[in-house]
Amino acid sequence: MVDLLQVAQIPPFLIERLSKEFTVHDFTAPSDPERQLAEIGPSIKGILAGGIKGPDAALINRLENLEIIASFGVGFDATDVVAAQKRGVIVTNTPEVLTGDVADLAMTLILSLLRRTSEAERFLRDGKWLKGRMDLGTTVRGKRLGILGLGRIGKAVARRAEVFGMQICYHDIAPLGDMTYRSYPGPVELAEVADVLLVTCEGGEANRGLVSAAVLEALGPDGFIVNTARGPIIDQDAMVKGLLDERIAGAALDVFDGEPAVPAELMGMENVVLTPHIASSTHETRRAMADLVYDNLRAYFDGKPVITPVPPQI
Ligand code: 8YV
Repeated sequence: MVDLLQVAQIPPFLIERLSKEFTVHDFTAPSDPERQLAEIGPSIKGILAGGIKGPDAALINRLENLEIIASFGVGFDATDVVAAQKRGVIVTNTPEVLTGDVADLAMTLILSLLRRTSEAERFLRDGKWLKGRMDLGTTVRGKRLGILGLGRIGKAVARRAEVFGMQICYHDIAPLGDMTYRSYPGPVELAEVADVLLVTCEGGEANRGLVSAAVLEALGPDGFIVNTARGPIIDQDAMVKGLLDERIAGAALDVFDGEPAVPAELMGMENVVLTPHIASSTHETRRAMADLVYDNLRAYFDGKPVITPVPPQI
């Protein structure tokens, strides 16, 4: 059986399925990584990675017989794809199958943030309703949603937000010709016009800090920020400061820089909605992602083309 190295948390049902056809070596929390690699390294042909944890260049280059890295997630920033592709190692991810659920969560966060549903529930549970009414929320209808990164997920959120009466505008690396939505040349220009700035672009070093202090300043005291992409895309310290100083109106965040740790300041803020990276976490989508990881590995080791290769990054 082909040997796989599992470096990230993967649903047990996928491991169970793979274990019938592959030998899966758990490397998620190795007590003695050097010893384990000395023992099994030469036999490893595939790596099982995740969107949050993947192999770095050192691990990739250490595994001399590595041929494929199958990642459980659409975002591949946790894997050093450049190092892999330089060596001819194929990387696969799980696009498409999670788009709908991620877009649903983004819309949920937008609605929850503006309509203050998390805060409202705390208000009720804390018995405050018995003493008075809660403050008013903000309608989403007619508000401008600025989408940073109009890819598959961004477009799916745009379609949903249109149904809720929001106006869509965006910034992407290149304006997309077939779109009727208005394009802005940069994140600052987009934030200037947006009531809600939604981050749906790729993670990775190129986009680290893309939502800078200047972008948050442009969003302004009536502007909300929502992130379902990757934490480091937002300058987290600047965002926390902006919220503390009331220079932005609120934030809804499914991802964090340094997750699962979340800045203590955010925990106490009423105008902040926090979820623990659950955008793709439904039974249905996780099954579909697992099937795609399996199908990619099966195809590769059966000598067929993989289904969803990560495009060349070099
Ligand atoms: C997962 C994700 O939570 O697809 C992604 O890029 O971040 C999420 O779907 C993650 O990949 C699980 O490892």
